[in-house]
Amino acid sequence: MKKILVTGATGQIGSELTMALRDRFGADNVLAAGHGRPPLSKLQQSGPYCSFDVRDASVLRQVVEDYQIDTIFHLASLLSAVGEEKPQLAWDINMNGLLNVLEAARVHGCAVFFPSSIGAFGPGTPAVDTPQDTIQRPATLYGITKVSGELLCDYYHRRFGVDTRGLRYPGLISNVALPGGGTTDYAVDIFYEAVKSGHYDCFLDADTQLDMMYMPDAIDAAIWLMTADGRKLRHRNAFNITAMSFTPRQLAAEIQKHLPGFTIGYRIDPVRQAIADSWPRHMDDSAARAEWGWRPRFGLPKMVEDMLEKIAVKLGKG
Ligand code: SER
Repeated sequence: MKKILVTGATGQIGSELTMALRDRFGADNVLAAGHGRPPLSKLQQSGPYCSFDVRDASVLRQVVEDYQIDTIFHLASLLSAVGEEKPQLAWDINMNGLLNVLEAARVHGCAVFFPSSIGAFGPGTPAVDTPQDTIQRPATLYGITKVSGELLCDYYHRRFGVDTRGLRYPGLISNVALPGGGTTDYAVDIFYEAVKSGHYDCFLDADTQLDMMYMPDAIDAAIWLMTADGRKLRHRNAFNITAMSFTPRQLAAEIQKHLPGFTIGYRIDPVRQAIADSWPRHMDDSAARAEWGWRPRFGLPKMVEDMLEKIAVKLGKG
């Protein structure tokens, strides 16, 4: 990893992953690429930045060539809830964007990181201890693009020798950039509302249990996997990883330990509830642990403590 391109660099993962990569591999060696969402000033000022649409194959190829990129973290994607609002657009961005990245990687010899998701599973998948290799018949367009992406990355590795690697992320909780229209967004929104108003109306039912992870672990995992010994990776493109698993009720109770006056109500969004109900409650991530040594640093109590502290500072209430 000498020259790195991050697509979707202004998104929830990209905003933090780009900074971590710049710290580790040198600011000038990490090109952040956004589109649509304006970059945070820290991201724009700390290293090279450009803006293009990943669906434009020729611009992407040119960027890879001009900057002599050898590794692409391809994060540009629509999330699950917005994907249900705009399924055709989600297919276009998620699939054609990935195909363009893989083609650029094939031609220019780059390694590729692709984030898959719990969304790659569906109602027929075992929801508890979801195995690494199991039934994948997702019910959302987002999930369909994630399974297809996993398979396409496998194909580019097998057929063309491209060093593709990826993770199935659970819901990601972060305090730098907001997620952009996912089903697990409640687990971020709740912190802003807890600090701002002391009350949150959750769009998922109190007992909807989902896998989750704090962003520092998600960032570490991506870099860890991309720097792991490739010869040890059997499931290279779709490692289950998780750090914690909780319900809105349990998250609220943990927040109440710090903010005793905090209250939660429930105004269920049937679309997002149906999506959540089709996803795993707890994935088995033993393949990631065995093949590249994955282990998370943050569980629920430590994540909640850190989130409340950071969000309070961000909102000027620290
Ligand atoms: N956090 C994502 C979403 O809710 C899942 O990958 O869409």
